[in-house]
Amino acid sequence: MKIVLGVSGGIAAYKAPELVRRLQDVGAEVRVILTPNAARFVSPLSLAAVSKHGVIIDQWGDSERGGVDHIELARWADLLLIAPATANIIAKLAVGIADDALTTYAIAHRAAVMVAPAMNTFMLQHPTVIENVERLRARGIEIVEPDSGLLACGDEGAGRLPDVPVIVERVKARFAARDLEGKRILVTAGPTREAIDPVRYISNRSSGKMGYAIADAAQRRGARVTLISGPTSLATPAGVELTSITTAKEMLDAVMQAAGSSQIVIKAAAVADFTPSAPADQKIKKQADRDEISIAFRKNTDILSELAKLKPRPFIVAFAAETGSLEANAREKLAQKDADLIVANDVSDAAIGFDSDENEVLIIGRDGSQSKVERASKFAVANRILDAVIQRLHG
Ligand code: PMT
Repeated sequence: MKIVLGVSGGIAAYKAPELVRRLQDVGAEVRVILTPNAARFVSPLSLAAVSKHGVIIDQWGDSERGGVDHIELARWADLLLIAPATANIIAKLAVGIADDALTTYAIAHRAAVMVAPAMNTFMLQHPTVIENVERLRARGIEIVEPDSGLLACGDEGAGRLPDVPVIVERVKARFAARDLEGKRILVTAGPTREAIDPVRYISNRSSGKMGYAIADAAQRRGARVTLISGPTSLATPAGVELTSITTAKEMLDAVMQAAGSSQIVIKAAAVADFTPSAPADQKIKKQADRDEISIAFRKNTDILSELAKLKPRPFIVAFAAETGSLEANAREKLAQKDADLIVANDVSDAAIGFDSDENEVLIIGRDGSQSKVERASKFAVANRILDAVIQRLHG
């Protein structure tokens, strides 16, 4: 992997030396181009030291340049990664302005481009920035979506540069073997909603992030992916075919319809086990003399068990969301659901499981084998799950 790392002038530029190191850890050779503004946030000298090459700042050449010109570099590189990417550089890339070393290089660069926007939420939400990001995406440039959280300016919201391991995982995925080429994979994600009356429902805290990450990772590894999702606020990963459902019954119907043509089914959705037996057709009114109400529930069909009856049956990956005795409960569920593999996560820990950006899982096979995936981004965990599936499919 030969990577040109372009760093533009945002506070997150301080992560650049760490990003270079971690990219090197996974076998990348890295050359760095800084915009003059980035050089105010991060020391060119430290980037030269970690990358072991001159850092380019001035398109007209300077003492740190090391004799490599942008055309030569463009012949060498497999990937241009711009992280962090400010609103300014995104705008320049969108229209083709080449007025510094990085933007001039970007015009000369011929291989893949990955851009990680990072800026204040207000800036990120500006219609021009949204439009420019979409222009880059439409040109085939991969966008590493910013994280949400506390920003350098003290505001809370979207706009943070994702953590270095998340960016490295995306780069690795870019270069990953297309080892799922020719496979059709069905992934389920998100919650289901079961109506109590026309305005109320019961649901759960699934955000869909885990399932969407699996769909995204599988697609990047060459699979044709169908994603069946309950209600979420997530963007459909590029190249993935989405079927939206609301209830567990709709999930069952959609899964059974798509499963016949899928070699692998991965059930990350949090499907309601029960549904109100008789949802009211009018809004249930509050009554002055009634302090409690009871709702009767009946069991939903277990989708995994239905899948396991298919002939020929796909390779089935179940999930287990547990709040205690993770391994024992997961092993029991694996047997009960007759799955090939189960991915167990502890949903009592707010930092992993439901609605978090990271997860930590146990992957248990029906042959008794077990491996632990330490806490990592859901995208990284998704790739480890796919590794485990491929390993088993190949015997
Ligand atoms: O969506 P996120 O916020 O990213 O959170 C991810 C997650 C915690 C939802 C995910 O990692 C996860 O654990 N998904 C499974 C949640 C769940 O419903 O677990 P369970 O232990 O209740 O169910 C076990 C398995 O049976 C699951 O694969 C489920 O999809 C399946 N099931 C459940 C009910 C049903 N009627 N049919 C099913 O097939």
